[in-house]
Amino acid sequence: MNAIAIDCQGIKKSYGTVEDRVDALKSTDLEIYKGQLTLLVGPSGSGKTTLISIIATILTPDAGKLRLLDQKIEGMTEIEKAHFRSKNIGIVFQSLFLIPTLTIAENVALPSIVGGVKEKEALEKAKHLLDKVHLAHRAHVSPTHLSKGQQQKVAIARAMINDAPIMICDEPTSSLDHVSGFEIMKFLKELANNSTKAVVVVTHDPRILAYADRIISMSDGEVVPGDPKHD
Ligand SMILES: Nc1ncnc2c1ncn2[C@@H]1O[C@H](COP(=O)(O)OP(=O)(O)O)[C@@H](O)[C@H]1O
Ligand SMILES: [Mg+2]
Repeated sequence: MNAIAIDCQGIKKSYGTVEDRVDALKSTDLEIYKGQLTLLVGPSGSGKTTLISIIATILTPDAGKLRLLDQKIEGMTEIEKAHFRSKNIGIVFQSLFLIPTLTIAENVALPSIVGGVKEKEALEKAKHLLDKVHLAHRAHVSPTHLSKGQQQKVAIARAMINDAPIMICDEPTSSLDHVSGFEIMKFLKELANNSTKAVVVVTHDPRILAYADRIISMSDGEVVPGDPKHD
């Protein structure tokens, strides 16, 4: 049995005011394990981004308990959360947030440089990661010169630079063709299975379900029990 990386208990989140309240996440209990690729699926509006934003500690839940890597998150200050996040969580957002005035190698290296690693060392590691996603030959161009699929790969490389034990990706294959999509999923699965990383991927893409060690389905703000590969 794999160890638990992410433990949600009674996590809830609503948006809006009393009159136009949306219960985006009803009481959610969930455990996600190290060494596994976990896919989070469900229709648009079912609460997937809300759930992973809470897990990524960038959104505070209204209620419930969250433990990441055996550490309690509620009670941490925003600064403490930011430190925790930079060390422990790699995130690929749907909107990638690449910086156009930096080269792709600099984009990938940035979280490492911010974390205190020397620029030269961080850039070397960035190039190594770009090589893994077959973009080493473009290391010195701006992300604006790349296709959306290539930009997605850069964002994944950037999320990996600090070697965080938790990786969270929101729709990482949405702009990729079949071949690149499978390549990225194979890469993320190997990353999980060959290490003790917990890799969580939100997806709409039915083609990639086969890569999952576990699939969690969401519907209308709730985790749906009894799905294939869902225990
Ligand atoms: N910032 C927000 N303000 C108000 N409503 C929101 C906000 N973010 C999400 N929602 C609503 O919460 C519900 C869940 O959204 P979301 O977590 O983005 O779902 P998914 O990622 O599965 O599409 C939806 O009804 C959405 O409209
Ligand atoms: Mg979403």
